[in-house]
Amino acid sequence: MDQIRIRGGNPLNGKIHISGAKNAALPLMTASLLTDETLTLRNLPHLADITTLANLLVQHGVDLHLNGHDSAEACSGRVMEMKAGTITSTRAPYDLVRKMRASVLVLGPLLAREGHAEVSLPGGCAIGTRPVDLHLQGLQALGAEIELKEGYVHARAPGGLVGGHVLFPKVSVGATENLMMAACLAKGKTTLANAAREPEVVDLAECLIGMGAQIEGAGQDVITIEGVDRLHGHTHTVVADRIEAGTYAMAAAATGGTLELMGARADHLRAMIDQLAPCGLRIEEIEGGLRASRANGIIEGVDIMTEPFPGYPTDLQAQTMALMTTAQGASMITETIFENRFMHVPELCRMGANITVHGSSALVRGQPELMGAEVMATDLRASFSLILAGLVAKGETVLNRVYHLDRGYERVEEKLAACGAEIIRVQQNGE
Ligand code: EPZ
Repeated sequence: MDQIRIRGGNPLNGKIHISGAKNAALPLMTASLLTDETLTLRNLPHLADITTLANLLVQHGVDLHLNGHDSAEACSGRVMEMKAGTITSTRAPYDLVRKMRASVLVLGPLLAREGHAEVSLPGGCAIGTRPVDLHLQGLQALGAEIELKEGYVHARAPGGLVGGHVLFPKVSVGATENLMMAACLAKGKTTLANAAREPEVVDLAECLIGMGAQIEGAGQDVITIEGVDRLHGHTHTVVADRIEAGTYAMAAAATGGTLELMGARADHLRAMIDQLAPCGLRIEEIEGGLRASRANGIIEGVDIMTEPFPGYPTDLQAQTMALMTTAQGASMITETIFENRFMHVPELCRMGANITVHGSSALVRGQPELMGAEVMATDLRASFSLILAGLVAKGETVLNRVYHLDRGYERVEEKLAACGAEIIRVQQNGE
């Protein structure tokens, strides 16, 4: 397993190209199952999760080609062409699904296209139990028969799905996406109430509409889908990753530098921009992106509570905590989305942070400085919070289990080193 080694203290200055969003690319890839024509995705990020899902789609029968980097300047991601001419298997096996729980997003498309699907329950992960009950209840509302057997979801809709009304008891990004895709080919009208409003849901809806789906209201809390007989091929450019952009914006503020985040959109980061302005993070809109820097010499503690979009993103919570560890004053950070998303706390404390966790809230008392240490990544966003801490800490920080980072961030050490960070990746043989 690789390590990343950082010597802290350098302000980050320069330009970072923001990649296509992982959490948009994954559902967009599963949409390829909804048509027998070619779906082409541009600006695809180069991430482990993308590769894992590509392998799953291939075993469903998708003819998949990844033809290198896109030529257009605006999006330097990769171009993936997918053609599900024939679905050769409707089974999503445990050994693939357990590696990447977003694989459950093949359930809705397979059921809609083939009338049945056998998808492994994804199981939990470091940040929580991650149930899929809302996905299953929604599909049942569209007429699916659902049976759980030997760790697999056996879903059947022999006569095809029928449009219906789905009211989500809590906001779920994945359940909204699964149901929106399934409803595209259901007979009649479907309404999704208390739907997720994340930009990645909107990006998926825009792609589905381009494929011939009839969807209204994406980005609001009621989405209406009028089923159609079939969807056709399309070419779609994956939206920029707002979580990557927010993460690097905090890196600029933490190190006292200035970063231009090309491709980043202010409208996708409004909660972070508004709620971190009082702490001293300045975000300016520039041609083609955002500029992030410190508004004045210091970072001051602020209180943050994560919420579904348009609230403060849970995927920025760990990074925000890292920023607050050396702020002036205290910060109360409350995680309302996942039940176990403070795995970064003990590792940050090993670097000298002063953080006390009470239930779903963490009280961060800012310290004058952190000390570099050997630390362990536990999950995707926690791994970047440790990098942020390492960028400001005195001395060297060694981050282990870097594979967590590679799931969601493209070429981190390259992007940071190009902006002045002392950071290298060390290949670890054997282990
Ligand atoms: C998506 O996960 C993202 N992943 C997550 O990003 C993100 O943190 C999350 O949305 C919230 O924004 C992808 O898009 C691939 P949810 P998802 O369904 O869809 C509970 C990252 O770091 N729930 O909105 O799985 C669930 O346990 C990842 O990039 C149910 O109870 O999240 C959680 O507490 C981490 N039953 C809450 O709802 C269900 O059927 C929100 O989950 C589904 C979810």
